[in-house]
Amino acid sequence: MQRRVKASAPAKVILFGEHFVVYDKPAIVFAIDKRATVTAEIRTDKKIWITSKNMEISGYFLNGQFYVKKGDENAEKKLEPIHAIFKKLSDLSGKNVGVNIEINSSFPVAVGLGSSAAVAVASTAALSHLLEIDLTKDEIFKISLEAEGIVHRNPSGIDPAISTYGGVLLYRKDRDIKPLDVKTDLPLVIGDTEIKRSTGEIVARVGDLIRRYPFIANNIIKAGGEIVTRGIEALKDGDLKTLGELMNINHALLYAMGASNQHLENLVYAARKAGALGAKLTGGGGGGCMIALVVPGKFEDIAMAIEQAGGKAYITRKTAEGVRFEE
Ligand code: PMV
Repeated sequence: MQRRVKASAPAKVILFGEHFVVYDKPAIVFAIDKRATVTAEIRTDKKIWITSKNMEISGYFLNGQFYVKKGDENAEKKLEPIHAIFKKLSDLSGKNVGVNIEINSSFPVAVGLGSSAAVAVASTAALSHLLEIDLTKDEIFKISLEAEGIVHRNPSGIDPAISTYGGVLLYRKDRDIKPLDVKTDLPLVIGDTEIKRSTGEIVARVGDLIRRYPFIANNIIKAGGEIVTRGIEALKDGDLKTLGELMNINHALLYAMGASNQHLENLVYAARKAGALGAKLTGGGGGGCMIALVVPGKFEDIAMAIEQAGGKAYITRKTAEGVRFEE
């Protein structure tokens, strides 16, 4: 049995359709050049030791009990999805061993870039290989999606899908996952409000509004679906102007559903004022990140405007690579 395996999976940016994707509308998502890395190695005892450098927590599970070494009272809850993945894979393999799992990301957690899914996908790949189980990408996706369900109750699955397959995807919950033909590099600046928030809470807040205003909300959700249909064409044609306009409309719909906040608005407006073709929140919202579509030569101006408005700016590119093993 191999004693040490390392795997990584990409972060993501949702271009169109977050939140509405929970309600059966399609969404467009792409993987970016930032990755979560998971290293797994067999232990000589039965402890399941998990260390997350970014979340600054570590501890071990033994006989169903959790023992915290670093972190607060939420440490167990945060590590539970990884523990669940390990338990599932260890049952499948029939091997009763202990393991060290070390998690490291090159991007911030809990800001809408899909960190929990990237970690789940990289963990599933590393641990299955360590336990000598051959999984297809479809199986890695399914196991990671189950783990995502522990983090928030009603996940669409878009995050584990993009972290598994990479590229640019048209995603529809429980229906299809299709790679998209894209004729542009998607030049984006990400603006991070650095406000951490729980995706589950914002999904629940949006859900509450839908329940209370079903007619209005359903029309907004329907418009969200239309944006994706138009977006597919614009991506095929490499039509950045239309993509920017659609991003602005999509942001307005998310704002209407209560997913924005003042910090996100500040960054969105700063980016537009500095010449972005379009700007919108990305992911769950309520803090976290926004994205701005940029014409060549404007990267620095827009990144600077975002920073001046109180955000942290990252220049990113899309990447074709989903989950992979590392040396
Ligand atoms: O976890 P986040 O913040 O990257 O957002 C995920 C996208 C949502 O549509 C808000 C939730 C989901 O499960 O699709």
